[in-house]
Formats: sequence, structure tokens, C-alpha cells
Amino acid sequence: TKDPTTLAQRWGLNPEQFWLRGELPERSVAYDPKSGMWNVYTYRDVVRVLSDPATYSSDTSRLLPERKEFTEGSIISLDPPLHQKLRKLVSHAFTPKVIADLEPRIAELTHELLDQAEGDRIDLVSGLAYPLPVIVIAELLGVPAEDRNLFKDWVDKMLERSGQFSLNDSPEERDKMMEAAMEQLDQLIAYLGEHAAERRRQPREDLLTKLVEAEVDGVRLTDREVVNFANVLLIAGHITTTMLLGNTVLCLDEYPDQKAKVLADRELVPGAIEESLRFLSPFATTARVTNTDVELGNTVIEADQMVLVWLAAANRDPEHFTDPGVFDVTREPNTQIAFGRGIHFCLGAPLARLEGRVALNILLDRFPGLRTDPAEAPEFLPQPTMTGVRRLPLVLR
Ligand code: HEM
Repeated sequence: TKDPTTLAQRWGLNPEQFWLRGELPERSVAYDPKSGMWNVYTYRDVVRVLSDPATYSSDTSRLLPERKEFTEGSIISLDPPLHQKLRKLVSHAFTPKVIADLEPRIAELTHELLDQAEGDRIDLVSGLAYPLPVIVIAELLGVPAEDRNLFKDWVDKMLERSGQFSLNDSPEERDKMMEAAMEQLDQLIAYLGEHAAERRRQPREDLLTKLVEAEVDGVRLTDREVVNFANVLLIAGHITTTMLLGNTVLCLDEYPDQKAKVLADRELVPGAIEESLRFLSPFATTARVTNTDVELGNTVIEADQMVLVWLAAANRDPEHFTDPGVFDVTREPNTQIAFGRGIHFCLGAPLARLEGRVALNILLDRFPGLRTDPAEAPEFLPQPTMTGVRRLPLVLR
């Protein structure tokens, strides 16, 4: 067992990431006057919120109208019954088989990227964890390889800008950031729109074509819906798996006994991925808006309130997990909630898990002695609600 506070400090984590210190706030449900939002921390209450879409709406743009353009019509912010329609259709194209078929290509790309590492050192993020998922999602959608840098650039800029929003911003600040982010979004949407239209005329063997052709009970996706979903996949497929891969390697390095177990028995690789998702959940929170007054955690939350659901805190709830501060690749069952719960459960979870498993296996095959570079500390993303390394210097041999 390690003292989590020391660990968080040594990793240089943002002190606002209180859940890493194993300190759950005293009240499970609490109003924060600074942010103007309600916070929900315990596993039980987090599950209650996520399992009740009739009371807790995903359409947060109701309270943040400036963000409407980003979220409108996107699967993540839709409520029933519209959500069901869209989810059914995209699940038709983005199937477990489509994802499972990617395994050989993911392995090939991982080898290619690692082949490019020169010498004994590598930054795991820029060398593997970042490019791998971006290339996979671009190839899957059918974005031409020569355009990859173009849209990597758009998404990077957009995330950078939209990651800076907060309820505390002045309207002028929001307008300024919004304008910059919208510019990127417009370009991305125009680009994807062209490709979607092209696939209607000339089908190919790619996910964009599958989305254009998907039909359930005579209903199809509109062009706007295809573009929106492709956009969500690009953004979601972009940094999430990067965080997962980096965090898993970091955790195994920090806990050599656990790494030894995984090296000795590769059946434990999926367990290591699940435990990394629990221990360092990439998205600390997700948000909802109350449709009605509702009682939660002995408190009444009124209608039209923003509710921040703390997945990362739930993943360290001692009422739910034995020794939550211990990183244990054999944890069984591991009911981590980093992918959410209920109707919005992460559609990309099978892809993230597959990429994590394939890449980790290859890393351990090729560099069983890999360890963090003693000369250079890892660097985490600055946003307190995202937990992931943005630089992870490793010594390979
Ligand atoms: C939804 C986390 C990777 C696509 C979600 C949600 C979470 C999440 C927490 C639910 C949000 C909510 O209920 O408000 C993660 C994590 C990932 C990951 C931790 C990696 C470790 C991916 C990838 C893709 C993806 C690789 C696609 C390529 C989606 C989509 C949704 C979603 C489309 C919306 C589903 C819906 O609203 O019905 N993800 N995600 N995710 N994720 Fe992921």
C-alpha cells in the first residue's frame, strides 16, 4: 500500500484531484456555490443519477447555451426517446465485430510506431499512446491518411479551447473562447460533411459508409447526424485511449509487484486495464441537468440544476471497493465505472479495451524491462477533470 497523497504529489497531480488522495467529501451530494453546480461522489448515488435519465437529463446545453453548437444532436447529450433512435442506428454500424476485426491492424500499427523509437528512450504518449488511437479511428471512419494531420490539428485546437470553459467565465471570455473553438468545429464539420456526401454517392468499406447506410425499421441517419456522430468518435477516440494507455503503464511502473504478475501471466492484462480505469479514471466527471426537483443523498436538488457526477470518486468509494487506494490487477469483480453506466454507457469501451490490451501486450513483449525515466518525471494534463499523462518518458531497455 502506498500513501496516496505522496503518490499524487510525486506524480505532480493537480491538488484539485482530491479523489486521488482517497478523501471522499463528507457529504455524498453537495452544492458548490463557486461553480454553481451540485456534486455527487459516492458509487451508489452516481449509479442512481446515471440510471435515471428521465430525472437527470444529458442535455446540459440547456444551462450552457453557448455550447449548444458543440453538443446539439450529439448522442452524448440526447435524452430518450431520441437517444434510443440514434444509439440503435450507430450501434448497427459500430458493432463489436467491426471493432474486433481491428485487432491485427492495431497490432501492426503498434509495432510500426515502436519501430520508430530511436535509442533506448521514448515518450510513450507522443510515440505510441497518442498516435495509435487517432490513426485507428481515422482509418476506421475512412478519413484519408494524408488528411490525418489536418484533422488532428483541428481536434487538438478545439479540445484546447473547449477544455477551458467554466461556469465562472464572464460572458466576454466565453464568447472569445467560443469563437476560436467554433472555427475549428466548422472546419471539421464541413470536412466530414463532404466525406459523408461522397460516401452516399460512392460507398466504400468504411464506417462512414456504414453510418450513411445504417437503417433500423426504415429509419436512417440524416447527414447532420452522421457528421455529428463521426465528430464525437473523432474527439472521443482521440485522447481517451491515450490517457488509458499512459496511465496503465505508469501504474504498472509504480507497482512493480503488479507488473511482475502481469509479465508472468498475460491473462492478467485485461485486469490491469480495468484496474487502471478505476485507479486513474480518465474522465473524472460527467454532467447532467435535473428535469424536476429530486431527492438525492438526503438533500433536495431543484429542477434545472447542473449535477456533476464524479466517476473518479465513485471508483475509490470504500463502501463499494475493498482497499480502494490499492492498485490490484487481480481485483475481482472490478465494477469500475469509468465508462459510465446506463443508456449512455461508453460506446467506444470495446475499442478502448482492445487498444489497451493489444498495445500493452506488445510493449511488454518487446520491452519487458521498460520503466519510467528517472531523469524526467511524467507530466499530467492540466485539466482537473481529466486524469491522464501528456508526457511519459520511458527507458525501454
Ligand atoms: C460515452 C468514457 C473511450 C465513444 C462515454 C461516457 C464515458 C466515457 C464516461 C458516458 C458519458 C455520460 O454518460 O455522460 C470513456 C473512457 C474511454 C472512452 C474512459 C477510454 C478509456 C471511447 C472511445 C470512443 C468512445 C475510444 C470511440 C471511438 C463514446 C461515445 C459515447 C461515449 C460515442 C456516447 C454514448 C451515448 O451517449 O450513448 N465514454 N470513453 N469512447 N463514449 Fe467513451
